[in-house]
Amino acid sequence: MSEQAQSIERSLSTLRATFRGRFEAASTEQSLRDENAKILGKKGELTAILKQMGGVPADARKAIGEVVNTLKQEVEAAFAERLATIARAARQAELDAPPFDLTLPARLPAQLGHAHPISRVRDEIVDVLVSLGFAVHDGPEVELEENNFTKLGFPPDHPATDMQDSFWTTGGMLLRTHTSNIQVRAMTTHAPPMAFIAPGVVYRRDDDATHSPMFHQIECFLVDRQVTLAHLRGVLAEFAERFFGAGTPVRLRPSYFPFVEPGAEVDVGCPFCKRPDGTRAGCSVCKRTGWIEILGCGLIHPTVFESCGIDPEQWTGFAFGMGVERVAIVKYGIPDIRLLFENDPRFLAQF
Ligand code: PHE
Repeated sequence: MSEQAQSIERSLSTLRATFRGRFEAASTEQSLRDENAKILGKKGELTAILKQMGGVPADARKAIGEVVNTLKQEVEAAFAERLATIARAARQAELDAPPFDLTLPARLPAQLGHAHPISRVRDEIVDVLVSLGFAVHDGPEVELEENNFTKLGFPPDHPATDMQDSFWTTGGMLLRTHTSNIQVRAMTTHAPPMAFIAPGVVYRRDDDATHSPMFHQIECFLVDRQVTLAHLRGVLAEFAERFFGAGTPVRLRPSYFPFVEPGAEVDVGCPFCKRPDGTRAGCSVCKRTGWIEILGCGLIHPTVFESCGIDPEQWTGFAFGMGVERVAIVKYGIPDIRLLFENDPRFLAQF
């Protein structure tokens, strides 16, 4: 036998005598794979032996080759068996370990959000007026001057448009300054009678503690035969009762809007300084008057009916327009309207 062949045989018998013990000594999958690589890997011991086969004389090569192959199969089988044993042990250890406590509260509880106070107040107002029988209309925020002003009795350059300093776009359009544009849109497309509300966003060039350039209004509009101020007052009184609480008084103060006659501003009894007997002490929220203004209203002006193609001899109606932020401020005693738009979570979390 050649020296080369003898050296190979020695290596083979050493490997045969030790590989099981080496696999047995590996206790993790990783150390087992490392050990396997030392034998069968690219630079492994058995691989090195195979590379030496070229130097073995042809007569011995076949017999040694068979021995090498058999040993290789034995190593592979032992590796697979040990791998399965380690996997089984790991699985068993997992099963024996104390189980997860699924009832433990999470370490960082997820913060649940809720509706923004403006959305909430808007929805509450809408619910009350819908419960009184009003439908809900919607309309565009970018509006023709005609629908926002002209047909509502504001002639171009009329001083009353100063009440509602506007954001103009091109082509005689503007961001609507109030939800009263929906009155015009409804009257020019529907025949009376009608009763609806129109909640939405409006824009004016105002920005201070009590005014925001973008705010929310809800228009309430009703046209029928022989509608009087008493109907308007009745709806307002019912609204105040249902929204601000039983016994909330309402008063109308004469005021001017070009699209109503007569026109009024509406105050509700201040909810913050109400005494048990129903009288008001006066406080900082109502500026010591006991009353808080929440909306403008009036009976539809005959010229508005005419410009919308409705006969004012046959039809009458009322309208009011309420500021949602204003109502939210009153309901929650919020000192600065801008708090409602900054969206500081510490503020919003209080609602
Ligand atoms: N549109 C008016 C405003 O925004 C409010 C209003 C609506 C007044 C309906 C009277 C009737 O100031």
